[in-house]
Parts: sequence; C-alpha cells; structure tokens
Amino acid sequence: MTAEPLIFGPDFKWGVSASAYQIEGAVTEGGRGTSTWDTFCAEPGRILNGDTGAVACDHYHRYAEDVALMRDLGVDVYRFSFAWPRIQPTGQGPANPAGLDFYDRLIDELLGAGITPAPTLYHWDTPQPLEDAGGWLSRDITSRFADYASILAERFADRVPLWMTINEPMVLTLIGYAVGGHAPGKALGFEALPVAHHQLLAHGRAVQALRAGGAAEIGIATNHAPTWPAGDSPEDVEAAALYDNLINWLFADPIVLGRYPEGLGEAMPGPVAEDLEVISTPLDFFGLNHYSPTRVGAPTGNPDSAATDGLPLPEGLPFEPRPIDEYPKTDFGWPIVPEAFGEILRTLKNRYGDRLPPLYITENGCAINDGPVDGEIADQRRIDYLDGYVRELRKAMDDGIDVRGYFQWSLLDNFEWAAGYSQRFGLVHVDFESQVRTPKASYHWYRDLITKSRG
Ligand code: NOJ
Repeated sequence: MTAEPLIFGPDFKWGVSASAYQIEGAVTEGGRGTSTWDTFCAEPGRILNGDTGAVACDHYHRYAEDVALMRDLGVDVYRFSFAWPRIQPTGQGPANPAGLDFYDRLIDELLGAGITPAPTLYHWDTPQPLEDAGGWLSRDITSRFADYASILAERFADRVPLWMTINEPMVLTLIGYAVGGHAPGKALGFEALPVAHHQLLAHGRAVQALRAGGAAEIGIATNHAPTWPAGDSPEDVEAAALYDNLINWLFADPIVLGRYPEGLGEAMPGPVAEDLEVISTPLDFFGLNHYSPTRVGAPTGNPDSAATDGLPLPEGLPFEPRPIDEYPKTDFGWPIVPEAFGEILRTLKNRYGDRLPPLYITENGCAINDGPVDGEIADQRRIDYLDGYVRELRKAMDDGIDVRGYFQWSLLDNFEWAAGYSQRFGLVHVDFESQVRTPKASYHWYRDLITKSRG
C-alpha cells in the first residue's frame, strides 16, 4: 500500500450506500405492508441463524443518528432505497402518508447535513400482494412500478436530484427466481427469464414516470464483474461467454443498446421490440455495483459456486461457476482482486463506447467481520480492500472512463440477506443487541481519503 494521496478533485461525489430492508427494521410500523422478504425470512431454514430484518439497524427510528455519522464522515451523497410496502402497502393504490412522511424526515435530515439524497426505488422488497399476483413473472407489475415511481417523483423530486430505478435486477432474477436463495424463493432455472424482461420494462417505464415528475438525474444500479473462463478449451470459453451474457449484459445491453445479447431476446415475453424502445429510454448515468470476479467453466457435474451463495444449482446448466483460490478472500469468501474492478470498467467502456452514460460506482465494499477489541475495531483488511479498489478506480478514470462518484457499501453493518447478520460490511460497527454504533478504523480512513482526495 502506498501512502500517496489519491486526488479526485472537488467535484467527485463520495458516498455510502444502503437499502431499506437491510437497515430500517420497524416492519409493522407506519402502516408498512408485508414484503416478500418478511415472508421469506419467516420460512424456516431460509436465513442463516433464523435472522430477519424485523429490527435490523432500527434505522427507521435512529436515522438522525445515522445521518450525523454520515455528516461526520464527510460524504457528499447517500444512496438508500424506498421500501415499496411503506409507500404502497399492497403495491397499488394511493400512497400511505406515514410511509411518505418517514422518507420526508430522512431526506430533510440529509439535506440539513449537507448530504445529497440518492434513492433507489426498488431494492428487492416487493409488496407481498404483488408477489401473490405473480410478482416479477407478471407483466402487470410494470404498471404498478410506474405508478409507484410517479408517487415518489411527485413527492420528492423537488429535493432529490439523483435517482436509481432498480438495484441489481440480475440478483433478483438469478437468486430470487432461478435458484431460490433470496425472496421470493423460487427455483425456476431458465423459466425465470421473464423476471428479467419485466424488471427491464418496469425500469424503462419508471424512467419515463420519474422524468415526467421532474426528477433531474436518473440511472439504475446493476452488478458487473469480469467472467474469467476456467480454461482455454472451447467448452470453457463458450460456457463463460454464455454466463457473461446472462450476468453482465442481459440488463445493460437492452438499456444502453436497445437490444438483448444474442439468443436471449427470444426467451422474453411480450412485444419485445416495442418494449425495448421503452427499456432503452436514455439515462443520465449508469450505476455499477462491483465486488469480485467470477470464474466459469463447462459443467463437470460437481459445482462449487460462490456466485450463487453456495446454493445447489439447477440441473443441466450449461456452465458452472468455479472457485478463485489464488487471491486473498473477504470473510464472506469473496476473492479480493482490485485489478478486476479496473478490468470491468474497461470492458464496459470497450463494449459501449460513447453510448455509455457517465458512471457512478453505486456499490463497492467487503465483509470483514472484525469486532471490537478494547472498544476499537481495527478492520485493517477493509482499509486495504478499499484502498486497492479506489486506486484501480483512479487508474481507470485516468484512462478516460467518466466516473462521477463512488458509494461504499455500507455505512453500517446490516442484514446481509440469506447470510443474516453474519457478514459485516459496515464502516460503522453495529451491536445488534444494544444498537450501539461504533465507527471502525475504516470509517476514519474513508473520512481522510475523502478530505485529501479533494486536491
Ligand atoms: C449487493 C446488494 O445490492 C446489497 O444489498 C448487498 O448487501 C451487497 N451487494 C453485499 O452483498
């Protein structure tokens, strides 16, 4: 690690990222309806240790303390998500005033602290009644999502400049509907592909609704990572290319280019050509979540997968994720490969050229589970991870890639989906018994980075 300060200039936006179900808690307060994640967590065996998001970081009540932590950290922007079941408890019909009021309080608190709110409309917590009516397998949800977007724009566009529609639509498709490790817990294999199309269409319709409602800058947050073929054999290369199309380009190509990667459009429902017109409504920015690369080979019948959270893969898949063991790993077992961050940024630029909108890194971070020792949390491994990844980002920007900001995941330790509270991604330690927040060494490091980076 070099000591040389990294200069990003005064206009670069530094932030932290979070999502509603992972931090808010208060799942029965303020008229909030049930979400698919409440239902999923209540099913035995779904979440490690039987954890749930019912209390999480209790951010619903402690948001002012959390905003103060962000202010002291010196961030410019905060990426959070609206909980759809707080805004529309059943997923349709008039807005729930208490739900809107909560986000009013949060947004005003942020603005008062000099922090720009950057919300995502949907980070996986579907109102349960919509799921019961088919969820993302049903085209109807795209109309519901457009209405929801209109409600939010009407209420908040005057104070919120930066908007994202959907978070990691691939993960909802793959883990939620194809493999069954996330809500709604369906294991449909390739039959899950309509979920991708409906999220894309919902995204496009929401962009139009947000824009009509006065939202200034609109994007999406999709996850991308290099796919490394397991070997040079044509079988491995072909398997990796198919996986790459599904994981990296199934969402980005329709949005940026207005077409599906080869062979995937045929599997989609609806008037696909007309839908693609809506899906490719121009964006102001493109949000990229990045953590680790993936290695993929031809199927051997003995899958050992990190990409699917260790869940059994559906039978007959034409590819197989393989372990990456030659790099250090986070406590979650994800390989730490800063160069892979630069690689995926260059791949995006090479693929889309001038059609690529300006980028924001909407998530990057790591699970490092160090706890307090004599009241201090010395999470040096998180500092090393972030330092390595931010340096790669600087290099990619020096090579001409237009990146406007970086959101670290996450301010607080929080509910890490199927892994419950076992994985700690925060710059701030949360004691989930007492709800006491303690800034870690990485919090002080990030504050320093931000200050020095202004130049
Ligand atoms: C992706 C997701 O958007 C977020 O919800 C999750 O906690 C982090 N990555 C870490 O897995």
